[in-house]
Amino acid sequence: MHPDWKRICDAFLTATSYSPEEMEEGWKDRSYDRENRPATYLTYPDAPVRVELGEPSLPPTPDLWAVLRGRRSKRNFLPEPVTLDELNCMLWGSQGIVQDMGNYQLRTAPSAGALYPIETYLVVNNVEGLQPGLYHLDVRGWALEGLRMGDLSDEACRALLDQEAVRASGLTFLWTAVMERCEAKYYERAYRYVWWDVGHISENISLVATALGLGACCMGAWHDSLVHELIGIDGKEHFSALTTAVGRIEGNDWLEDRRAPPKPSPDGG
Ligand SMILES: Cc1cc2nc3c(=O)[nH]c(=O)nc-3n(C[C@H](O)[C@H](O)[C@H](O)COP(=O)(O)O)c2cc1C
Repeated sequence: MHPDWKRICDAFLTATSYSPEEMEEGWKDRSYDRENRPATYLTYPDAPVRVELGEPSLPPTPDLWAVLRGRRSKRNFLPEPVTLDELNCMLWGSQGIVQDMGNYQLRTAPSAGALYPIETYLVVNNVEGLQPGLYHLDVRGWALEGLRMGDLSDEACRALLDQEAVRASGLTFLWTAVMERCEAKYYERAYRYVWWDVGHISENISLVATALGLGACCMGAWHDSLVHELIGIDGKEHFSALTTAVGRIEGNDWLEDRRAPPKPSPDGG
């Protein structure tokens, strides 16, 4: 724990606050040139594996109210695989492009200023038709880029504070924030926006997973350095923002799905 964390957090809140007194003064020399913005789309052209996703085959519209009522954090995943189409539905429901505005595109989840600073990585353990490994979503090309192939379930579990649900998951989403995209427009406030953006994405995943009959658990507990190492990012300009484990579940008995041991822990559970 950083000995000075409280002061630093207070300073963060102050430094990223808007106030009527400072607003005009602070923003008078600022501008945002969307034409010359930092790149919105990250891709890995040299990725050893590329899996074209194609159009997801979205199942008939589920009852939204039942989905909202039925969403619970599920952690007790079965060894049966998630299908590639189910994964495609979750990816589309969280990051699919649905409208072209010319020089930018709108997605299924909102993003402050339509800047889309969040990248989607996933550790695949058990998805039908995908080799296990680390993948990145190429949003514009709608494909998964396989970055590191092999069984990464132990490494991912360790990185997420040994939460067993990660080892047992069909896949675990690791979302990251690319600061320059958001900072170019929002400066210091960008350090708030990226967290809000990722919350919308993860909730979309939870709702789509519920609609598909899958289990999902949003996880805020991870060793930042281990996740950065796993993905291969610097942890400063591009850093981990949130994670969610997803897998097949049995029935809907979410009380039985609580992870063990049920004791107080720093993992947000
Ligand atoms: C931002 C966030 C972080 C969370 N982190 C964890 C976590 O690391 N591990 C875990 O098992 N559950 C985690 N949870 C799930 C919560 O424990 C869960 O949402 C809460 O107990 C309420 O239960 P429900 O989601 O079934 O309504 C997290 C939830 C959120 C929204």
